[in-house]
Amino acid sequence: MDYKRYIAEKIKIDGVSADEIYSSVTLPPDTQMGDFALPCFKFAKIFRKSPAVIAEELKSAFNIDKVITEVSAVNGYLNFKVNRYEFAKTVISEIENRKDKFGSSVVGNGKTICIDYSSVNIAKPFHIGHLSTTVIGGALYKLFKFLGYNVVGINHLGDYGTQFGKLICAYKHWGNKEEVESGGIHAINDLYVRFNNEADEDMQAEAREYFKLIESGDEEANALFEWFKALTMDYVNAIYKKLNITFDSYAGERFYSDKMQPVIDELEEKRLLETSEGAKIVDLEKFGMPPCLILRSDGASLYATRDLAAAIYRKNTYDFYKCLYVVAYQQNLHFKQVFKVLELMGKDWASDLVHVAYGMVSLEDGAMSTRKGKVVWLEDVISKCIDKAYIIINEKNPDLENKKEIAEKVGLGAVIFGALYNNKIKDIVFSYDKVLSFEGETSVYVQYTCARANSVLSKSMTGGSLPENYEPNTAEFELVKQLAQFPEILAEAADKYEPSYIARFAVDLAQKFNKFYIDCKILAAEDEKSRQFRLSLTSATLQTLKNSLSILGIGVPDKM
Ligand code: ARG
Repeated sequence: MDYKRYIAEKIKIDGVSADEIYSSVTLPPDTQMGDFALPCFKFAKIFRKSPAVIAEELKSAFNIDKVITEVSAVNGYLNFKVNRYEFAKTVISEIENRKDKFGSSVVGNGKTICIDYSSVNIAKPFHIGHLSTTVIGGALYKLFKFLGYNVVGINHLGDYGTQFGKLICAYKHWGNKEEVESGGIHAINDLYVRFNNEADEDMQAEAREYFKLIESGDEEANALFEWFKALTMDYVNAIYKKLNITFDSYAGERFYSDKMQPVIDELEEKRLLETSEGAKIVDLEKFGMPPCLILRSDGASLYATRDLAAAIYRKNTYDFYKCLYVVAYQQNLHFKQVFKVLELMGKDWASDLVHVAYGMVSLEDGAMSTRKGKVVWLEDVISKCIDKAYIIINEKNPDLENKKEIAEKVGLGAVIFGALYNNKIKDIVFSYDKVLSFEGETSVYVQYTCARANSVLSKSMTGGSLPENYEPNTAEFELVKQLAQFPEILAEAADKYEPSYIARFAVDLAQKFNKFYIDCKILAAEDEKSRQFRLSLTSATLQTLKNSLSILGIGVPDKM
């Protein structure tokens, strides 16, 4: 049962919908006054009365019952106290019944969301800069599925451009099959870097020829391209597997090669295309933006041209409700331009395109540059986290079984959580010590709390069953209230495209559990009723922590 809904439906205010009341009901941090509250300031304008008077009037009209046991009006707030036992029973039994589905919903049924994320560049390093798009996109993917949406995960591969001509040229001059076969993406990247450092005019011209050969369907050039692509995908797929990331489509930039001309024609037809210094552009000056470049003066298409074609293709293919682009804020202008051009083309769905922008990730030593071949590969960050996790776990609990497996879950969790915990738009400095701390606001802390809950439950032998008529104390009740918020947190996270809300919720929940764990004896409780209640509460908490982490793509070891 949704208590906020319950309260909202018991309050009648003329001219204000139950939904509006619902969204105004809050859970005050200080529970002295009440467990739920309705601030009446919003309604003051409508009724031309002070919030205090409105609160008083609403209070008189409110009928308390066995669920809402007390109502008071204080300083413009209407405060409610609930029957703690009834509340706890509803929340805990819902978790017991729904288990790993607790928090899921059907709000998204019948709606499709496309999520463009991770979008790797073929033959280029998959580096720490790709961490956020991969894990934020991955979390949104799971979140929207959990909320009942049909989700299409799209890896908009960077597989188009003159760089592939350069790469083939470099390979022809300096490469050999065995080296590339064994070195994989690293060997390809080395060739590319070497080309950029050493290629002379002749080689540049040759590279342009190779690019044309790829474009015109030349067999050898395309076979090489496909080989480089396969090596890149092998490499990133191994990382995706570790991070629990999946895609439904790998339609990349190249996929749109033959889908750009109709867009250009349409732009022309709609008189949006202008010629400027030989190039074709859409003028966006009126909107305070530089022009959107559609075709270069040599007739070559651009990144934006392919994104226009991709958006139209996605709308036609998936008829999306929303199409999200999880891409760094450096591309803010690009997406503003693309969305604007689509709007000018009369695509009314342009307003359903969302650039989910996020900040930069750097390492503590400042390293992250991809130029000059000085790259921090994501794979190395992941391995280092797993290795460090192993050392820490081994120190803490040397007798633990399956230490390797556990270190893997802990290390991977730390990488993911490290990139997800902050509001996504913030630049973050990734610190191994910080993300692997047992005490901080980390996945390790949450996982450790799960292990603690697990250990209590397995020692209890029987688990708990909800007793009749039990009066929860404050630590217990605070924990129950936190659990009750999970569905709402998920809805908010989806609404703002912020997996960080879920990460924070998990840390808060773990903190509340640990407070409860210290304040209340679980196994050695004062009486059997308390013991049963606390065991049920522990198991509901464990389930909810697991559900939270699972949406983020993080596994939970039984022991730590
Ligand atoms: N591959 C691009 C990059 O690394 C990101 C692609 C994002 N998606 C898109 N539809 N433009 O910058």
